[in-house]
Amino acid sequence: MKLEIDGRAVEIEEGKTILEAARSNGIDIPTLCYHPALEPFGACRLCSVEIEKRGRKRVVTACNYPAEDELVVNTKTPEIVEIRKMLIELLLARCPEEGRIQSLAMEYGVEKPRFELENERCILCGLCTRVCEELVGVSAINVISRGVEREVGAPYKELSDDCIGCGSCALVCPTEAIKREKNIYPTTAEDIREIEDRYLEGEHDKELGVYSDLIAGKASVDGQDGGMVTALLISGMENKFFDAAMVVQREEGYKAEAVVVEDVDGIRSARGTKYLRVPMMSRLDGALKEGKRRIAMVGTPCEVRAVRKLQQQWDLEREFPGVEIIILGLFCFESFDYDGLKEYTKKLFGVDLDKAEKTQITRGKYIVTSAGKEYSCDVRELENVIREGCPYCDDFVSRLADISIGSVGSPDGYSTVIARSKRGKKLLDATEFIRAEVDKREIVKLVKLKKRNADRKFAKILEGLE
Ligand SMILES: Cc1cc2nc3c(=O)[nH]c(=O)nc-3n(C[C@H](O)[C@H](O)[C@H](O)COP(=O)(O)OP(=O)(O)OC[C@H]3O[C@@H](n4cnc5c(N)ncnc54)[C@H](O)[C@@H]3O)c2cc1C
Ligand code: SF4
Ligand code: SF4
Ligand code: FES
Repeated sequence: MKLEIDGRAVEIEEGKTILEAARSNGIDIPTLCYHPALEPFGACRLCSVEIEKRGRKRVVTACNYPAEDELVVNTKTPEIVEIRKMLIELLLARCPEEGRIQSLAMEYGVEKPRFELENERCILCGLCTRVCEELVGVSAINVISRGVEREVGAPYKELSDDCIGCGSCALVCPTEAIKREKNIYPTTAEDIREIEDRYLEGEHDKELGVYSDLIAGKASVDGQDGGMVTALLISGMENKFFDAAMVVQREEGYKAEAVVVEDVDGIRSARGTKYLRVPMMSRLDGALKEGKRRIAMVGTPCEVRAVRKLQQQWDLEREFPGVEIIILGLFCFESFDYDGLKEYTKKLFGVDLDKAEKTQITRGKYIVTSAGKEYSCDVRELENVIREGCPYCDDFVSRLADISIGSVGSPDGYSTVIARSKRGKKLLDATEFIRAEVDKREIVKLVKLKKRNADRKFAKILEGLE
């Protein structure tokens, strides 16, 4: 395509937009709702430019208008500058405190808005909702309500069961809006530091996070690995460290749900790993509203992150006085979609997952035990059924939990346990088990691999930031 922008001849391949043609030739057009890795949205209109086609002039948005042969584009006519000034004035009235809007106002000479000042932080650019849907694949947030009530949040303004706390939305947000005000849990690097300082205690290890104890343990319970999660929960309940535990039980077949149990039998019945992502936050919310206060929860790193973010952000103590949540975090490299895992298990082994006695992922193998027989394959065979969002998660060891438990690093039949807080340490000290040696290098290897994979995903977002 050969076109003219601000009097300069510009060439660009077909399928590109005016914005891409301008930027690749060093011509600046301001944008607020544009990110090169996302579909153009055309919400802020700040990228308005004038085009001339067959003698007719009109104003279009450069971020979603295709570059065409013989198009004449002007990016800085007095009329265009006036349009941008008006838009910036409206945005400044809506979000007078936002640095990005203030600097645009300065650049365009907009001083005091003529409109009534509001005190919003969100400019409704939609970057957060689109990154969550198009890249992360989770769709935890949407623009909800209408008219002046329009805002970004989880559906029905309830706690999200979908958000994995990856923080992508906070990364692309041009303002501070998404970080602390929404019913989701984007966890930024600053949040992690703050959470570690506030809740955890011990040596600060770059790979494993904050911890005071790292052991391999085998309890008398027959669990997934060393049965340590179940043993810790039973001992915590018997010692009255908490009154209720949120665990994950199989429903019918392999499908699983989070349940709140108040006795040892309930804890025992949840033994064993279900390699699925199970909605937990609405269940936790329900338990708090039902009046439960001293709760232990077991979850994967994304769920741990969500609960911590909730504690940090929303001051749960004020809303639910006396609340104490002790978090048992599992190691997790990825989780799977129930339907997909069922289909693949059938395809690979001819086995009905719902009837399996046990599933296990260990040393790169997916192992299913059904009718007393063991079937196994390389875990990479399950690549297509990994849950959306998992590739964006960079935490293998539940580094924000009170105590983390996994299998990597320990001999077969043992669980690796990392105590990270006073509460976690107290729980570990109150539990009976047999010890063995831990191979920390094995854990670190997977920590680094998961982080590297996530960094690759985030690079695409970071590259496109203004
Ligand atoms: C999706 C997933 C992926 C995992 N990936 C790894 C891995 O790559 N490497 C590794 O070392 N360990 C991984 N683990 C942890 C490992 O499978 C064991 O859960 C851990 O070693 C504890 O074993 P245990 O014998 O002490 O647990 P048990 O005493 O058998 O207790 C298991 C506990 O886990 C809870 N639980 C089961 N499924 C879920 C779920 N889907 N979500 C939340 N809680 C659940 C149950 O409520 C139960 O309390 C993963 C766990 C999950 C859920
Ligand atoms: S933290 Fe991640 S999953 Fe949650 S809303 Fe933001 S982008 Fe979506
Ligand atoms: S929260 Fe941030 S990214 Fe999301 S619409 Fe508002 S300003 Fe845009
Ligand atoms: S950047 Fe084009 S409309 Fe927002």
